Amino acid sequence: MKFQLKDIKLGVATAVTQIEGDDTNNTWYDWSQRGGVVDGSSPVVANQHYKLYRNDIDLMAELNIECYRFGLEWSRIEPQENCFDDDALKHYLDEVLYMKSKGIEPLLTFHHFTNPLWFERSGGWERKDSPSIFLRFVDKVLSVLGAHVNQYVTINEPNVYVTNGYFYGTWPPGKKKFSAVRRVMKNMTIAHIDAYNYVHQYRKNLGFQDTRVGFANHLRIFEAANNSLYSKTCAKLMEKMFQTSLTDAILTGKCRFPVPKVHRKVGKYYDFVGINYYTRSTVSGFADGVRKGAPVNDLGWEIYPEGIEILTKRMYNRYKAPIYITENGTCDKSDAFRCRYIYDHLLHIAQCGVPVERYYHWTFIDNFEWAEGQTAPFGLVALDFDTQQRTVRNSGRFYANIIANGGVTEEDYEKYVVPSLDGNKQ
Ligand code: BGC
Repeated sequence: MKFQLKDIKLGVATAVTQIEGDDTNNTWYDWSQRGGVVDGSSPVVANQHYKLYRNDIDLMAELNIECYRFGLEWSRIEPQENCFDDDALKHYLDEVLYMKSKGIEPLLTFHHFTNPLWFERSGGWERKDSPSIFLRFVDKVLSVLGAHVNQYVTINEPNVYVTNGYFYGTWPPGKKKFSAVRRVMKNMTIAHIDAYNYVHQYRKNLGFQDTRVGFANHLRIFEAANNSLYSKTCAKLMEKMFQTSLTDAILTGKCRFPVPKVHRKVGKYYDFVGINYYTRSTVSGFADGVRKGAPVNDLGWEIYPEGIEILTKRMYNRYKAPIYITENGTCDKSDAFRCRYIYDHLLHIAQCGVPVERYYHWTFIDNFEWAEGQTAPFGLVALDFDTQQRTVRNSGRFYANIIANGGVTEEDYEKYVVPSLDGNKQ
């Protein structure tokens, strides 16, 4: 064996709006109609997973997937304010029961970047009562799924959501206002803490003791482009503004700038620490960049496998809870280096010496990649968007073998893993 993976379940992660198709009542459909997607595509096609979910789960089972992080479309479940759609809820119940019947363990995400239009148009996450509106949705979901799912992600990457949606304005709602950034950070922090408590209480009342709740935290390595004190200070500052303060606020209720104070007890609002890891940022001044000569993926993001180990250790030492890698993967249209990417990142996880209990590869099938539309394939399985034909990539087969063998065999290493990422330099 090249290396073994012990006490870790391996799976895949998706986000609902990126795969389901056919819903026009959400913010990303609206954004696509207003020209916000590079190739003019919209999430209305995606993977047609709302129809094809049983086929997709069958394919997961064929590839030995052990656990699945997936989401629910809030705008389907609550198409108008306080009006709930029982058919949509039944649909998700069937999806959960079906994956469980195949031996796939669910991890359910309540919020992954997308809102119902009624919510967005009435102020969205800037609304003071947004945490209680979100909680009403959570309650409704639990009334159907609470007895069947024991692990939950409240919110996906609140830092990316606020940065793109309220600071740069490149994602819906397209604002560029620091006061709104801070308001949304505050409301999402409260929403997480309240949902954390609520899910625990709800399942406790049903007699369950095994509930786990966390959030999926987008973390990067921030490094200065050179050794000057100015660059180093900028890198630290960017790290704090983008991730450190918000992580701490959400997980513990301790708020420091830029997150405004929330009136919640300081405590422990997580049962696992979720990490979405993709890349390192090389910072000069306040600009984000890529280290010269570093290998990059098709989107120009640096491939930096050491980062997953650094962040995993850092988060474990700080928060002392099992680590879930809630997302990790790469954009590689020709599947030229994805096996190497998987190998290197899993190797760092295997050797990091702290309990990493889940790894969810991003992603299962190529999907609607937000502002990049259909142009950025992250899948272990390739998708033809026109025919909806799914084709398992080499990397999908490699990953399936890793799961079957509990690690990487010499034979698979020879067969799948390209020698290095040198050919892939920036
Ligand atoms: C998001 C995913 C996205 C992936 C790749 C993560 O930040 O949670 O929705 O597709 O990155 O860009």
